[in-house]
Amino acid sequence: MARILDGKAINQQILDELQPRIASLTAARRPPGLVVILVGNDPASEIYVRSKVKTCLELGMMSEEIRLPGTTATAELLSQIDVLNHRDDVDGILVQMPLPKQVDSRAVLLAIRPDKDVDGFHPYNVGQLVANSPAPRPCTPAGVMEILRRSQIQVAGAQAVVVGRSDIVGKPMALLLLHAHATVTVCHSKTRDLPAVCRSADILVAAMGRPAFITGEFIRPGAVVIDVGVNRVTDPAEAARVCAGSPAKQAAFDRNGSVLVGDVLPSAMAERAEAYTPVPGGVGPLTIAMLMANTLQSAEQRLK
Ligand code: GUN
Repeated sequence: MARILDGKAINQQILDELQPRIASLTAARRPPGLVVILVGNDPASEIYVRSKVKTCLELGMMSEEIRLPGTTATAELLSQIDVLNHRDDVDGILVQMPLPKQVDSRAVLLAIRPDKDVDGFHPYNVGQLVANSPAPRPCTPAGVMEILRRSQIQVAGAQAVVVGRSDIVGKPMALLLLHAHATVTVCHSKTRDLPAVCRSADILVAAMGRPAFITGEFIRPGAVVIDVGVNRVTDPAEAARVCAGSPAKQAAFDRNGSVLVGDVLPSAMAERAEAYTPVPGGVGPLTIAMLMANTLQSAEQRLK
């Protein structure tokens, strides 16, 4: 039986560890503060942002949400960031991605003070990551490392394969695994014989954003599979494919007319992996835990 890596439980463990640090900082000075900027009204982004703000407030941190219309110009966003950069009660600034087409995302990321960049997306912090020097790390890959560490999965010496090369997940994921002494292969849409490369993995990380693309033939029996994908499937035929062998998922689709599936076929993970992260309830909760950790860390540094 495959071990299910329970992201919700690990998330709670981490939040419980942060709580006393937040309390003592609040007693001594002020609560850590995070401001989240959401441009436009992408439904998935709205859910993420709400959940980030809610978790902050539950932990006793200060949190504000700034909502800007989808037509916002780069200059307007830059001037909002400038105010937040100078506010003493703000330790973390997060601009939810993706941004609308007319916005220069790179200029936005560059504008955030690196020591308030709790996403770790500023080029300075990317450089610190490459050099393995202290700085905020991108939350999703950092969360994956916490899952591996807290589940006693040996990374040093392991063959790790990362499928996907995004700036937010794939690239930083590969670097974190490398710094933890894995032998890392990064795959993408042009990779030749992807199933064979994936089958070489002791630790397979799927992060390319394609519903249930990774099937049984990609997974070496006994591998650890980390599924970073979150895809909502609404087409009934596609749902039947991704839910095959997972009656609970099919039932969810029949009930709701849609179902969440990762980048890995759920039945394939359950049948072949030694351990895997489910979707939902695997990697997702850790992204928020790491955002809270980064914000607290930033506040501790600032108030030291
Ligand atoms: N969009 C998807 N993931 C993330 C994330 O970790 N941070 C931000 N800012 N936007 C995202």
